[in-house]
Amino acid sequence: MAQKISPHEDIHCGYCGAEISGKLCVLRGKTYFCESCLLELPPLAAPTAEDSALYARFAEVLTQALDLREHETGLHSKRVACHTQILARRMTADPAWLHQIYWGALLHDIGKVGVPDAILLKQDALDGDEWDVMRRHPEDGHHLVRSLAGLHEAAELVFAHEERFDGSGYPRGLCGEEIPLGARLFAVIDTLDAITSDRSCRKARSFAAAREEIVSMAGKQFDPLAVEAFLAEEASLREMVALKCG
Ligand SMILES: [Fe+2]
Repeated sequence: MAQKISPHEDIHCGYCGAEISGKLCVLRGKTYFCESCLLELPPLAAPTAEDSALYARFAEVLTQALDLREHETGLHSKRVACHTQILARRMTADPAWLHQIYWGALLHDIGKVGVPDAILLKQDALDGDEWDVMRRHPEDGHHLVRSLAGLHEAAELVFAHEERFDGSGYPRGLCGEEIPLGARLFAVIDTLDAITSDRSCRKARSFAAAREEIVSMAGKQFDPLAVEAFLAEEASLREMVALKCG
């Protein structure tokens, strides 16, 4: 029977691991399940290769739908996922780690689904209350991605994608190597894409302008190692940005 857990009890869903304190859940045997997982019980059969390809495409479509709200040039999320891979491949050839980086970068802003248009699309500076709402999106995204089996490291990238190397980012104010490497690489690429893309409030600037800004923020907003990787991959990134603008 469904019941509501006291917010003071530390209870997690036995299937996805999400915290369910204060939420509706169901006890099966000695295990609690959240409402979402209950709908899937008994566990689904292992996905086939065809299912996996469909899930991957579905996730891309979902991020394209999110991009439609905020990014006029489209494909922002897929672009930053692919471009972050270029930097990540300089650090490792481990396919499992690269997989986590790709999914974390692709889904980085999934938590913005909970940010109202009046805040997300506001042209003027956000006020204090609006910033409080905006600052929640990494944690909301982390909560969503963490519930997907096998994407826990990707979820950590999502949680940390607005942090800055010098500790001035949000939501946790992490600094240096406290920030997962994937998120440090992603931060450089996200800025590259933001500067070289048209927005409703301003036109895209050149790759050279983005390069200058990224280099000037090494050790402040960005990990110097990530900036080094960016400079080492400059030729291929420049080509990919040209393709987008072409
Ligand atoms: Fe974000």
